[in-house]
Amino acid sequence: MSVPDPPRDAAPPAPPERPKAWGGVFEQATDERVERFSESVSFDRRLADDDIDGSIAHAAMLAAQGLIGADEAARIRAALEEIRAEIRAGTFEFTIAKEDIHLHVESALTARLGDSGRRLHTARSRNDQVATDLRLWCRRSIDLVDAAAAALQRAFLGLAEREADLVIPGYTHLRRAQPVLAAHQLLAWCEKLDRDRQRLADCRRRVNVLPLGSGALAGTSLPIDREQVRAALGFEATAANSLDAASDRDFACELAFVIALMGVHLSQWAEEWIIWSTEEFGFLRLPENFCTGSSIMPQKINPDVLELVRGKSARAIGNLQALLVLLKGLPTAYNRDLQEDKEPLFDSVDTILAVLGVAAPLVAGTAFARERVAASIDRGHLDATSLMEALIAAGTPQRTAHETVGKLVRRAMRRGVALDDLSDEEFSADCAEWNASLRSALGASRAVGRMASFGSTAPARVADQIKAWQRRLSTDGGG
Ligand code: ARG
Repeated sequence: MSVPDPPRDAAPPAPPERPKAWGGVFEQATDERVERFSESVSFDRRLADDDIDGSIAHAAMLAAQGLIGADEAARIRAALEEIRAEIRAGTFEFTIAKEDIHLHVESALTARLGDSGRRLHTARSRNDQVATDLRLWCRRSIDLVDAAAAALQRAFLGLAEREADLVIPGYTHLRRAQPVLAAHQLLAWCEKLDRDRQRLADCRRRVNVLPLGSGALAGTSLPIDREQVRAALGFEATAANSLDAASDRDFACELAFVIALMGVHLSQWAEEWIIWSTEEFGFLRLPENFCTGSSIMPQKINPDVLELVRGKSARAIGNLQALLVLLKGLPTAYNRDLQEDKEPLFDSVDTILAVLGVAAPLVAGTAFARERVAASIDRGHLDATSLMEALIAAGTPQRTAHETVGKLVRRAMRRGVALDDLSDEEFSADCAEWNASLRSALGASRAVGRMASFGSTAPARVADQIKAWQRRLSTDGGG
């Protein structure tokens, strides 16, 4: 028994007359639903400048190698600049019938130049093209993020300069611990941002490698000159393995990671300043034009900007996760999954630029409530460690001194006073080595003043650090 042929009238209706996108092997045009599903031009149009830069360099190289005419390269360049201007002016027409930015630019070129446009894709695949575009985009973005991070460092430094002598409580476990200079704590953010910027610079080195010339996966039989393209696009090196270069996105993950970690730092900062600016702490006065109100409670002046700085770090972390998961199951060389790399990466860069852009002026407009801080600075026995170290310096073993000062703190707690309010008799009752000169270790300001070690909150050390940061941030814009 054989399977009967389907009746003739069961054949699908002929698709409407639409142009085929993919050339001679196809007999059918792409289904519109597939077009909509698989297009990337709605987001990769952001790569237009990079795509055009890459194409101009590629065309110049093709001409130098005799693969296209020198006059063709010149016309290609001029037409690509026209296309760039149209895209910038918003007059360029985008359509999902052309999948991505690469096909848009190329078809606009061909519409202008005919066969010269058709020669541009010589010895090139969209696989090495998109990898090149994305690396150029990452390089530009890294430089923008770096400059924005430097601006935030400058804002922290400015506040540290203005508050150079202010002593604040330092906290561990969010419990009063030892006194520190406000400037010391502010410069801690400069340090963290400096490492973030070092990570950006390090990531930039691996971003700055040319994939173009890798073709789809295997390279090309045509006599290209990758060194010329590398130099024209300012890449530091040329990728040595076409399979790897056309397909890996580890550089995108790295950038997303650096941004996520920067986001975590900024989230920690935002959390700290939200706490410091509460009525309960009252250390900081946030600039009112960087706060928001409540629609129901007329008195509220809320730190929403800082809360969003904290909240937006979640997106940066999520984007990193999305990229890592995207890559983890891919076999070697290009797979279309890779198109999903762009939106998380774009979002991470957009997010961190938005955060940095609002953080710097917020810091610049913030002041410490010096009287509030001073009024409570001698609460919480911040000077206990200072007294313990004075005893150690006088010869008491550390464990013994720790025990002794603990007892003195307990005595002061019972009376509800500061250590310095205890009488000499009270000190002597718990501390055989007590003498009145040990009082010079007491009080938050004196405790800070006695600090000495490199990296500590000692006023002289912090002053040195302020000078060092002034030098670093004035010259190259950063660390
Ligand atoms: N839009 C694609 C992407 O972003 C460009 C490369 C497409 N290559 C391909 N062989 N389908 O990844």
